[in-house]
Amino acid sequence: MTDVIDKPTTSPISTTRHGDVLIVTSNNPPVNALGAAVRQGLVAAIDEAEKDDAIKAVVIRCEGQTFFAGADITEFGKPPVMPWLPSVVDTIENCSKPVVAAIHGTALGGGLEVALGSHYRIAVPDAKLGVPEVKLGLLPGAGGTQRLPRVAGVQKALEMVTSGTPIGAREAFSVGLVDRIAEGELLQHAVALADEVRDIRPLPKSSERDEKLKEARENPAIFDEFRKANARKFRGFEAPEANIKAVEAAVAKPYAEGVIDERNLFMGLMAGTQSRAQQYFFFAERKAAKIENIPENTRPRDVKKVGVIGAGTMGGGISMNFLSAGFPVTIVEMAQEALDRGTGVMRKNYEATAAKGRMTGEQVEKAMGLLKPTLDFDALADCDLIIEAVFETMEIKKDVFGRLDKIAKPGAILASNTSYLNIDEIAASTSRPQDVVGLHFFSPANVMKLLEIVRGAKTAPDVLVTAMQLAKKIRKVAVVAGVCHGFIGNRMLMPRQVEATKLLLEGATPEQIDRVHVEFGMPMGPFQMADLAGVDIGWHRDPSRIENIRDALCAIDRWGQKKGAGFYDYDDKRRPSPSPVVQQIIEDFAAKQGVTRRDISDEEIVERTLYTMVNEGSKILEEGMAQRASDIDVVWVYGYGWPVYRGGPMFWADTEGLEKIVAGLRNQEARMGSDFSFSQLLLDKAAKGEKFSR
Ligand code: 3HC
Ligand code: NAI
Repeated sequence: MTDVIDKPTTSPISTTRHGDVLIVTSNNPPVNALGAAVRQGLVAAIDEAEKDDAIKAVVIRCEGQTFFAGADITEFGKPPVMPWLPSVVDTIENCSKPVVAAIHGTALGGGLEVALGSHYRIAVPDAKLGVPEVKLGLLPGAGGTQRLPRVAGVQKALEMVTSGTPIGAREAFSVGLVDRIAEGELLQHAVALADEVRDIRPLPKSSERDEKLKEARENPAIFDEFRKANARKFRGFEAPEANIKAVEAAVAKPYAEGVIDERNLFMGLMAGTQSRAQQYFFFAERKAAKIENIPENTRPRDVKKVGVIGAGTMGGGISMNFLSAGFPVTIVEMAQEALDRGTGVMRKNYEATAAKGRMTGEQVEKAMGLLKPTLDFDALADCDLIIEAVFETMEIKKDVFGRLDKIAKPGAILASNTSYLNIDEIAASTSRPQDVVGLHFFSPANVMKLLEIVRGAKTAPDVLVTAMQLAKKIRKVAVVAGVCHGFIGNRMLMPRQVEATKLLLEGATPEQIDRVHVEFGMPMGPFQMADLAGVDIGWHRDPSRIENIRDALCAIDRWGQKKGAGFYDYDDKRRPSPSPVVQQIIEDFAAKQGVTRRDISDEEIVERTLYTMVNEGSKILEEGMAQRASDIDVVWVYGYGWPVYRGGPMFWADTEGLEKIVAGLRNQEARMGSDFSFSQLLLDKAAKGEKFSR
């Protein structure tokens, strides 16, 4: 299409004419966020259309990878610059000429609100439309909670605003959110639509529609039903409820009043800690991908074929990640039985996913077809990346890496999934330590989003860059960690575990400690986690050797959920209840060790199990084992279910105040004894009134 360019402009918004259609184009890389200049440009463009009688319709479109991906999050918390997004959307809707939004990429948040303010929406088939504000602890605050239910229906709107998950263009079309799918060149179709509707009056304004509100008006109980059905998912979060209330207002009140409710709810969320935490986390996640101290423009190595050693709990899950992403995987085991068991579990997991409708049978076969199970170690010779997931024993790992060194092709990346062991020592068993890296997946490896990339002393920059790039390809969020016992996540788990166990002896119950953690927002507490993972993990397997509570439980077969008993008793539906047997064991141990039992306050549990984690995180930071505090937060949110509305342990410590953390730890210092020592960085920051997050 050839257009007449109106005038040169420095604004991200430019206008061109195609016949009597004004084409308004945003060019604000990388994602066309609706920053101040874009908002100003949009209003000016609508004004231009209004003033020019020759213009009969308007198309709003974006250059680059996507339609507007929302408000500019970097502007949040700064003094507002006019015009506000809500009034920009109103300006579009109130334009006396039809406005068509031409959507490609993702129309998200404020971007979808701009589209909802437009009179017509046309999208390419692979476009996605959504309102992800809830993930930032917010709600669509530019009329989105009022217009979306009017256009897409109340149920769909509730789902979209509370999940934040975008829907595809075809689904959007089926619910009426998109008027037309552009099969072919988007702009051409958008202009054709604009030509077609140029004379239709009155203009269809989303804010004036109410036919889709009728059903909910007649049956307002749907809101409470929705709340009830999603109570577990929303637990602890403020934003989903505010989103529901805003949609409720759309149904119960006229538009003009509903938007006032929306504004008030939005401002309430914006002023709260949760949205600050969630916005912080949005950027934390993106920062984690940046690797420090490597030459710029380091090129990744080419990885086409992957090898995995060990088809146990981790090897199977790790393989599935790569198979699902289309990589051929060679998996090696020691014995046929272990190999068959491992591949059998993988198939079963895929089939379970297919049964839930999240995969087709064909996709299952395609993934499994890429798998080459073998007992022949030499079959790894043509792999570009080989991940070892054998038993957690240094001698075995060294043996495996020594053998790998002999057969792997030059330049192949040799990775270990070790949870605790020293990557440098493992690397030293090869003649190519520069190719060795830790890739620490979390269990279940096909589900958990986190990947710790463990950077050895000699790991080459291009190995790190490749690992980071691969993480993205297999949809993981990766964080770079240094070589230390347990890296970032498991290392921080240790002080928590030590103190939680001591608290049991001193008088707390597993139920109390777990409750404190769950109320804090964790998916489960330390003892629920032990029961789920297996109390016997790392157990010496000698029932006569009883040195601690764990040994005592293992000795009487209380290995956790898998045995129907652990720290808790379980019924046949795996529902836990407190165990008198465990209580007796705890009390006997306390007596034997001369520990006087007392009432333990919830506050003490927080100080000894959560503040100690912050202290350990601070040590990790001062030793350079994490690149930045926000990386530690990413590990904890994605690896252990730390509530994202608290930002992660380091951000949470900032919101608590580091002085308070230090004071709390000082309260407990004597009780914790030699298990605890202060991080100097934490003390310094607290003394200076500094924070971990910047
Ligand atoms: N504001 C500011 N910067 C943003 C942004 C936004 N809304 N969205 C993305 N960015 C930045 C990222 O920080 C990143 O910067 P970097 O390169 O410096 O790290 C860059 O754009 C590219 O982003 P991604 O790495 O995430 O790129 P992807 O291609 O993987 O994903 C995306 C693109 C799907 C658009 C994704 O960036 C995304 O989900 N963005 C956020 C969308 C969102 O939450 N919108 C709602 C905003 S709130 C709102 O609109 C309030 C309103 O209702 C009043
Ligand atoms: P697992 O015991 O379930 O599986 C290990 C498998 O490796 C077994 O099937 C065994 O037959 C096989 N194996 C052992 N030596 C081998 C060799 N020389 N060649 C080929 N195969 C061999 O163990 P799991 O849990 O999968 O752990 C594997 C590694 O992953 C360990 O280093 C562990 O610390 C780590 N890890 C474990 C996590 C977990 O939650 N289970 C989480 C993250 C890491």
